[in-house]
Amino acid sequence: MSTQYSHLIDLNDYPVEWWDKVIKLGASMYAHPQRYVQACAGKIMATLFYEPSTRTQMSFQSAMIRLGGSIIGFDNPMSSSVSKGENIKDTTKVVSSYSDILIIRHPMAGTAKAAALTAECPVVNAGDGGHLHPTQTLTDLLTLHMEKGRLDHLTIGLCGDLLYGRTVHSLCKALSCYEGNRFVLISTPELQVPEYITKMLRDSGCEFRTETSLDAAIGELDVLYMTRIQRERFLSEAEYLAQKDVYRLTTEKMKRAKPDLAVLHPLPRVDEIEIAVDDDPRALYFKQAQYGMYVRMALILRLLESETALPVLHGVEDNSLHCVNPKCITAQEHYLPHRFIEVSGKTVCEFCEERAIPVR
Ligand code: NCD
Repeated sequence: MSTQYSHLIDLNDYPVEWWDKVIKLGASMYAHPQRYVQACAGKIMATLFYEPSTRTQMSFQSAMIRLGGSIIGFDNPMSSSVSKGENIKDTTKVVSSYSDILIIRHPMAGTAKAAALTAECPVVNAGDGGHLHPTQTLTDLLTLHMEKGRLDHLTIGLCGDLLYGRTVHSLCKALSCYEGNRFVLISTPELQVPEYITKMLRDSGCEFRTETSLDAAIGELDVLYMTRIQRERFLSEAEYLAQKDVYRLTTEKMKRAKPDLAVLHPLPRVDEIEIAVDDDPRALYFKQAQYGMYVRMALILRLLESETALPVLHGVEDNSLHCVNPKCITAQEHYLPHRFIEVSGKTVCEFCEERAIPVR
């Protein structure tokens, strides 16, 4: 089992001071990119994208190229041996032996952690199903640092798919660690944040409320984080159709917002932000995507230089329990250990943080 590398599976595996260092380095790279052109010369980054991506994949790739390194990988697993039935363990083991850092995105929650168990280099979670997306959060934090000048004492509205939105989960976990942040969770009752996120907010002592109306909340926000309703995460098309088009940010709604509101969106946008809003100086989502490349440059460099190794698994093994989540990697890759952690007195799967139940 691999424990000797600095992986990034969940931002909260590291202390806030570590994130702050990455953000500051990202800001320095943004200001002086020429200083870093040889920083990763001779290093190879592998990107294994089992799910579609534009920004995450290309910003990682251009980040490595701008640092003087090289890239390998796939963005269509069907053109690799995955199409022949190869499991995550074997693909990771082999590709990590060709590279110095491995970036992985997968539709099943917990895959990055599963990959880190066998990888022979640092693994970065570039999105694991509907669970987490820590490098999008670093992007969001760098954007707030650059554009708002602070990461604390903000009222943050998160709007749209809060249930399956991994960007939302990672961002809530991160911003709850800074003092004085308040959250307004704007969604339909069906797409509210998962229970573990509500528990985490409660445990961290953050003020938060759920809200169904974007109109009602917009005037009090410092940050509005819009998200796409993600068709691919729903169990049925009917459930998706019932949710799409509920929230739409328009120029009309923007009139009721603060003059210094920051509108963020991880992108891609579908219909949830009217195109005309792009011309509003408060619309920061394209700038945010650009900051993403700089913060990923900072992350790659930091992980490659790091000498501290984090343990991949923290929980206890219990073969009498299993995870209830059909979209957890443990439901697909049966060799994975049955590992569980305690969150607010509840036993949850260490890979996806969903509930554990006894094996029948
Ligand atoms: C997000 C993702 O993949 O989770 N996009 C991204 O990484 N920038 C959000 C989404 O796909 O809606």
